Amino acid sequence: MISYLKARGTYVLFNSNGILLNEKRGQALIDAGLDEYRLSMDGATREVYAHVRGVDAFDKIWRNVRAFVAMQRAQDACKPAVSLWFTAMRENLQDLPKLIDLASDAGIKEVYMQRLVYFEEGLAASKQSLFRRAAREELELVRRCEETCRERGITFSAAGTTTPVQSLVRDFGERPWSGCRRPYTLTYITSSGNVLSCCFAPFGHKSAKEYKEERVLGNVFQEPIAEIWQGERYQSFRSAFESDHPARHCSQCGLNWSY
Ligand SMILES: C[S@@+](CC[C@H](N)C(=O)[O-])C[C@H]1O[C@@H](n2cnc3c(N)ncnc32)[C@H](O)[C@@H]1O
Ligand code: SF4
Repeated sequence: MISYLKARGTYVLFNSNGILLNEKRGQALIDAGLDEYRLSMDGATREVYAHVRGVDAFDKIWRNVRAFVAMQRAQDACKPAVSLWFTAMRENLQDLPKLIDLASDAGIKEVYMQRLVYFEEGLAASKQSLFRRAAREELELVRRCEETCRERGITFSAAGTTTPVQSLVRDFGERPWSGCRRPYTLTYITSSGNVLSCCFAPFGHKSAKEYKEERVLGNVFQEPIAEIWQGERYQSFRSAFESDHPARHCSQCGLNWSY
């Protein structure tokens, strides 16, 4: 899939838990020309990682990743860019400084802090969320991590376009979805060709009718993507997005999940 997309000139990336990143697969990723490899890493110790992710694989993943970065170096391969993606919650925030040390030691130059999307299941619960609920010490910890990363030449960002501290405190008031840029910058296509506004759109609808009428903005097997992107349905989705009455999936966005 990666080689196919690269042959068509596409920028290719994906997130992975890194558990299966052995030498053979790592080499195949380099050879295919993958642009970015985003490693999900929700702890900096074996215990916290196992608690958050439900699998005791911390040591194996770090062996895999260190070997992968070393293999890239040995081959002078500048791609894929390897980054760490940390889903921040009350339970694991204290691990963030150590995670930055791990990134530094492994020669990983980018760390991202994602806000927790929660739906009251397991750790994905409101009491774990730091968004507009972070205590002063928690914000201070994130601010110090921003500083450390600046000193070490590591890019440290939030998953959107903002800084980690800002991603926890900024408030879009009555229109919490309005900080999202996805309606203008990207699109999401399912294997059946349906075009949706983002990766959240496939979830949480109450009926097939709502999904089809409110969320599906076109189908690439029926119409070229450029026409869908500029088409009437996408434009009216964007107009609603800019009004006080966006599509239902957008209306809750920015409150209990991130964009
Ligand atoms: C679709 S998931 C990728 C799943 C892939 N198997 C992995 O582990 O990287 C994309 C990103 O969302 C993160 N993620 C998972 N659950 C989340 C949640 N409840 N809130 C915020 N981010 C979450 C994952 O850690 C991953 O970095
Ligand atoms: S659901 Fe959220 S992420 Fe998706 S387009 Fe709407 S506001 Fe953006």
